[in-house]
Amino acid sequence: MLFFCSNIMSNDSDLAVQATCHDASSCKRFAVQKSYWDDNFIKEMVRGAGSRKPPEINRGYYARTESVWIFTQKFIQSTNGHCQIVSLGAGLDTTYWRLREKNVAPKMYVELDFSNITTKKTQIITAKEKLHSVIRNSSKNVDVTTDSILSQRYALLPVDLRDIELVEKQLNLCKIDYTVPTLFLAECVLIYMPSESSNAILNWISSTFKVAAFLNYEQVNMGDRFGEIMVENLKSRSCDLPGVDMCLSLDTQQNRFTQNGWDEVNCVTMWSVYRLLPQNDVQRIERLEFMDERELLEQLLTHYCISWATKNGQEYCLNEIQL
Ligand SMILES: C[S@@+](CC[C@H](N)C(=O)[O-])C[C@H]1O[C@@H](n2cnc3c(N)ncnc32)[C@H](O)[C@@H]1O
Repeated sequence: MLFFCSNIMSNDSDLAVQATCHDASSCKRFAVQKSYWDDNFIKEMVRGAGSRKPPEINRGYYARTESVWIFTQKFIQSTNGHCQIVSLGAGLDTTYWRLREKNVAPKMYVELDFSNITTKKTQIITAKEKLHSVIRNSSKNVDVTTDSILSQRYALLPVDLRDIELVEKQLNLCKIDYTVPTLFLAECVLIYMPSESSNAILNWISSTFKVAAFLNYEQVNMGDRFGEIMVENLKSRSCDLPGVDMCLSLDTQQNRFTQNGWDEVNCVTMWSVYRLLPQNDVQRIERLEFMDERELLEQLLTHYCISWATKNGQEYCLNEIQL
């Protein structure tokens, strides 16, 4: 069945993928409400936190958000702020606003997602002064359409990431500079597209940008029973994971980068990340809620990973960035 929504047509499977944006943002909002980390903007961006989430889910989101936040800030520091960030499948993420609040925003921050999602995000941003003012305060001209926001420092643009020509067209629209170091963020995004499409985007970036880094957070070790159950659960919601073959092991995750033109890549499970994060903060969050089965957390976190890949990153020591 086909649905008309906004100015694009989405099929059932694409709509189910877009619904994962709601899952991620409500889990993040719930964890912030529980004080896992600070985010002064998520209450504006995400209407409700939904039902209660178990402690292992909150801790998982904590490890995910904190590690992305640390890598992103280190990238900005390494380039002295002379950089750009492109968030692929950004959903309702608030990283841009959190960076601006800390005065560490890059020269340009671009968020890409399906038109249904960018329509929703545009509506929210323009309706909420706390979000809208951050964009207005950094740019003289802010162009807003139904599904996009375009300004000198921030852009929110509709795209299907499986269509490289469209990705390129949108990045040209916001005057992305292919010679400036650029960080690409993909938080639980690539698995929703066939591996030919994610390979194509990785290849396009490494061959088009002079200096680039890629932070990929997504599933790993998906060949076991836990992975099968995850695939079945999402399938029952009409959400396929066509990119799962890239998520079978740390090696498959790493190889996708080296085979697509990236010089260096390091990939670790979120269980390792959890033990690499600042341990005083980990101890703080572990006191927030009682969790009796630590094995559940270990099982969950060994099924997610972070990859940090770089292309021509030596000049800025991007290849040396770690947690
Ligand atoms: C699980 S959500 C994660 C959202 C956000 N990265 C976060 O972590 O909060 C996945 C996002 O990827 C987007 N996405 C997946 N496939 C896409 C595609 N082919 N083109 C554009 N966006 C896509 C979805 O619409 C959704 O917003």
